[in-house]
Amino acid sequence: MLKSVILIGGPQKGTRFRPLSFEVPKPLFPVAGVPMLQHHVEECAKVPNMKEILLIGFYQPNEELTRFMCSAQQEFKISIRYLQEYAALGTGGGIYHFRDQILSGGPEAFFIMNADVCSEFPLPEMLNFQKEHGEPSSFIILGTTANRKQSMNYGCIVENQQTNEVLHYVEKPSTFVSDIINCGIYLFTPEIFQHIGAVFQKKQQDMLLYPYEGDEHTNGNGWHRAEAIRLEQDIFTALAGQGKLYVYKTPAIWSQIKSAGSAIYASRLYLNQYHKTHPERLATNKDGGPRISGNVYIHPTANIDPTAVDHSCVLNCIVGWDSTIGKWARVEGTPSDPNPNDPYAKIDSETLFRDGKLTPSITILGKLPIPYNIQLCWAGYASTIVAVTVLE
Ligand code: GDD
Ligand code: GTP
Repeated sequence: MLKSVILIGGPQKGTRFRPLSFEVPKPLFPVAGVPMLQHHVEECAKVPNMKEILLIGFYQPNEELTRFMCSAQQEFKISIRYLQEYAALGTGGGIYHFRDQILSGGPEAFFIMNADVCSEFPLPEMLNFQKEHGEPSSFIILGTTANRKQSMNYGCIVENQQTNEVLHYVEKPSTFVSDIINCGIYLFTPEIFQHIGAVFQKKQQDMLLYPYEGDEHTNGNGWHRAEAIRLEQDIFTALAGQGKLYVYKTPAIWSQIKSAGSAIYASRLYLNQYHKTHPERLATNKDGGPRISGNVYIHPTANIDPTAVDHSCVLNCIVGWDSTIGKWARVEGTPSDPNPNDPYAKIDSETLFRDGKLTPSITILGKLPIPYNIQLCWAGYASTIVAVTVLE
């Protein structure tokens, strides 16, 4: 049997996603109409023999998360549990800490996924690839192609082109290493814990030998030294070239979701897929209804006037909860989409300021406190209308 683990991080993370992450934990922010995490859960639930999904993070258990897990368990008929780290343990430390829970029931393999990615999640393809490549216990990284400049913002993979073995792995290198990047989706066998365990032991010994020497993961910013382990730097770099780690490259959609602008882009990618995956989620033109252009998701509670396209323009925006936009308004942000002329371009998740200047970006209206009769809840427009929710 199989399991899946989704790394959801915690409240100190997702700073680039503010102010939206003040209102809802970032992994639950709606992307193409459903919580970011639901896209992962749906694809995991489709995989035959998938027994359980574990969410690992350092959020305090909260109402939104509990509500999401309850409704997703019912809808997708799969067990979903949240395991809370006592501190941020890094991408490898969390799974090591909860290894008994992951291994209980004896899965032969399990997926690990970053929550903040948008993907087609080619999980069956990764399972086939694992059978066909390498030894049965090899570990698989999902990879995609980026352009030279942007590749350096990701984990970079040098492969053996015949066997797809990972020969070299560098996390966010400062000079160009490879245009194959890590998508943050992995297929592991239980053997991975031997490798993480070895790093853990080594870190513990180092702590005894050099108790006052720090690295970036010391207690200073809340990290616990021996238990904080990064899959990328601590594990993949060491496993590269050992005949254990392979890359499965996907030509399908993929994007990171770091900034609010990338949530609009990710929504568009998923909405474009909905023709294939969820046609029922796409709004259609009906007699007497509003005119729909492009791929649009309308929330079931939304009530849209047939003349709704008139007199107001909302472009490249996220309109927050309880916000109202009146008639004759124009709310416009700068699109932060990847270069459409470069097939390998990814979205730049820029910082707010660069060289002392504000980076132009999408417009975000955060939550407004005053309840109105008609509320425009979540809207984004970027060549297609992304999503409009009107609550009564
Ligand atoms: N549970 C838990 N605990 N989750 C964590 C922790 C932690 O301590 N730290 C990070 N995460 C989660 C984040 O919520 C996110 O889903 C994922 O792990 C990766 O987050 P980061 O560590 O911030 O890495 P990154 O997103 O900058 O880069 C990673 O993803 C890229 C693809 O999107 C790396 O894996 C890159 O190599 C990769 O290219
Ligand atoms: P993401 O957008 O999710 O990556 O969050 P972010 O924008 O907060 O990430 P960024 O890489 O900008 O990191 C912000 C701060 O959090 C930095 O000081 C990092 O050192 C720190 N940080 C990164 N990863 C972790 C983690 O797993 N746990 C904790 N506690 N801090 C982390």
